[in-house]
Amino acid sequence: MDLFIVKGKQKLSGEVKVSSAKNSVLKILAASLLCQKKVFLKEVPQLQDVKTMLDLLRSMGVLVHGESTDNNEISLDASIIEKPVASYEQVKTMRASILVLAPLLARCKRAKVSLPGGCAIGARPIDLHLKGLKKMGAKIQLRGGYVYARCEQLQGAKIILPFPSVGATETLLMAAVCAVGETTIENAAREPEIEDLAHFLRKMSGVKIQGEGTPIIRIQGCGGVSEFNELKTLHFQAMGDRIEAATFIIAAVMTQSEITVKGFNPHHIRSVLDNLTQMGAKLEEFTDGVKVKVQQDQLQALQIDTAPYPGFPTDVQAQMMALLCLVPGSSMITEHIFENRFMHVPELQRMGAEITIRGSSAVIKGVEQMYGAQVMCTDLRASAALLLAALCAEGQSVIRRVYHIDRGYQQIDQKLSGLGAKIKRMSQQQFKESEGEIDHE
Ligand code: UD1
Repeated sequence: MDLFIVKGKQKLSGEVKVSSAKNSVLKILAASLLCQKKVFLKEVPQLQDVKTMLDLLRSMGVLVHGESTDNNEISLDASIIEKPVASYEQVKTMRASILVLAPLLARCKRAKVSLPGGCAIGARPIDLHLKGLKKMGAKIQLRGGYVYARCEQLQGAKIILPFPSVGATETLLMAAVCAVGETTIENAAREPEIEDLAHFLRKMSGVKIQGEGTPIIRIQGCGGVSEFNELKTLHFQAMGDRIEAATFIIAAVMTQSEITVKGFNPHHIRSVLDNLTQMGAKLEEFTDGVKVKVQQDQLQALQIDTAPYPGFPTDVQAQMMALLCLVPGSSMITEHIFENRFMHVPELQRMGAEITIRGSSAVIKGVEQMYGAQVMCTDLRASAALLLAALCAEGQSVIRRVYHIDRGYQQIDQKLSGLGAKIKRMSQQQFKESEGEIDHE
């Protein structure tokens, strides 16, 4: 297990390009199961979650090439699916594995996929995925921790989601492409990653999809994968990672630095940028990035509520909290999406933060200084928050269990080091042998 040793209080400068969005690439990989032609994906980020999804696809018989080459282009050949099964061992490490259920069912008429179970940030049921598939004609049984799904032919349906779940919207979108007739998904999630998936599906199948990015998506299903358009191969590149971009932008604001973050659409994090501007951060937007300028005045405390897109993303909540820890006055963050997403709080407290949790809200009293400490990553975005806090803490921090951060940020230590941060990645053993004496030069 690796850890990061961070020497705080370094200014950042320069430019950083974000990778393709993990939360888009994973869905596109799952959707590739529907494609009998070769799919080429460009700029696939080298992340643990992507590796997990590729291993899952391989276990079903998909041929994957190019994973370990330098140009990050991979090809997928799902012309033969031998085994429409996702085992518990595979699904338990990454909940997004559940997204193979709908494409397997549409393609193979049956699927056996492990129930994901709870995870660190909440229970995360998949009832909305299953109810929607049932409405489209699937017969679903839950046995021994597995979802068994069968359907000779999915049928178009009108589905109203009680909550705009990202995953359920994606499951139903993939199913609807192969269904007979029209499907409408009402109260659909509007996240940009869903638009990306819709672009991919449209390109792959030729199917008419309208309204992605709005609460009502309409899909004119073509009745099966053999009806897909006649492209010989399919080339695609996923959108830039908006959550990674927000993380770098907050890092610059926290360290009072000037950096440019490129490779993403600023409109995709409008609510984050608006909140930062409201606090007093100086930002300049381009079509494909944001420049953070050094702010002259003290930042203002803020109240933030996470919400489905276009609201403030739950995936940026922890990073924003790290920033608010250093903003004078009293701020409040209320988490509305996941029930247990404050696990970074005790770790930030170890670094000197003053935070009180009241139910689903955290009240943050800004302190003048945070101090380096030994802290532990608990989930992906919580880890990003700890890293940001360490960047502006006085002294050295040791961040353990960075495998959480490696799931979703490609080489974040190298990218931040390129901007001037002092971060060293070490194994536990190397750290033990160094006896805490780290040369950051
Ligand atoms: C996706 C993102 C995750 C992000 C989240 C919300 C991926 C791989 N993950 O997760 O990073 O934090 O969107 O923006 O893209 N729910 C149900 N029943 C369901 C489905 C969801 O009750 O069938 C609940 C969940 O427990 C949760 C809420 O709805 O409380 C949001 O979940 P959802 O939008 O589905 O998020 P994910 O797709 O799991």
